[in-house]
Amino acid sequence: MSKYIIGMTGASGSIYGVRLIEELLKMGNEVHIIITDSGRKVLEYETDYTVELLKSHLEQFKGDNKIQDIDDLFAATASGSFRTDGMVVLPCSMATLGEIANGVSKNLLGRSADVCLKERRKLIIVPRETPLNTIHLKNMVSLSEAGALILPAMPGFYHKPETIDDMINFIVGKVMDSLGIENDLFDKWGK
Ligand SMILES: Cc1cc2nc3c(=O)[nH]c(=O)nc-3n(C[C@H](O)[C@H](O)[C@H](O)COP(=O)(O)O)c2cc1C
Repeated sequence: MSKYIIGMTGASGSIYGVRLIEELLKMGNEVHIIITDSGRKVLEYETDYTVELLKSHLEQFKGDNKIQDIDDLFAATASGSFRTDGMVVLPCSMATLGEIANGVSKNLLGRSADVCLKERRKLIIVPRETPLNTIHLKNMVSLSEAGALILPAMPGFYHKPETIDDMINFIVGKVMDSLGIENDLFDKWGK
C-alpha cells in the first residue's frame, strides 16, 4: 500500500481528480485529499458531487481516504517527516500553480507540494488553462526546474476516444504511468 496526496483546485476538470482518487483507492492505497475553496465550488458546478457526497462515494473503495481541511497546517502532509509516495495536483489552476512555483505555502495544498519538492518526492502538476500567458509558462518552467513533472490535461486522440470517460481515463492513465503504477485505463501505443 502506498500513500499519495491529491490536490484539487478551482481549475476546470474536477472529474479528473475524482477518477484518479477512485483508481488509487481501488488498489488499496491511502489517499490524502486536499481541495481548495475554489476547488470545492468547481467540483459542485461541474459534477454531481459536493465534498460530502464525494466522501461517501469514496467509502466503497478498499483504500483509506482522508479529506483534509485546506487550512489545517498541522495535518500530516504538511511535514516532510510524513513520508508519501508522491503528490498530484489535478486539476491545477494557474493560481495554485503560481503559488507552488513561488514557494507560497499558505495553505495545506501549497505546503504539501512544497514539502514534496524539498524532500525530492514526486510532484505531478496537471495544469488546465488555455491559452497560457507568459507568467503561466514561466511558472511551469520554475516548477519543472525544481523537480516537478508538468503533465498538462491535454487528451490525445490517437487511442480513438469514443466517450468523455475515455478522454478522462487517458489523462488519469498518464498520471498513473508517471507515478509508476500499472494501469490499463487507455490502450498504450505499440501494445
Ligand atoms: C467554472 C470555473 C472554471 C474555472 N476554470 C479554470 C481553469 O481551467 N484554469 C484556471 O487556472 N482557473 C480556472 N478558474 C478560475 C479559478 O477557479 C480561480 O483562479 C481560483 O482563484 C483558483 O483558486 P485555487 O487555485 O485556490 O483553487 C475557473 C473558475 C470557475 C468558476
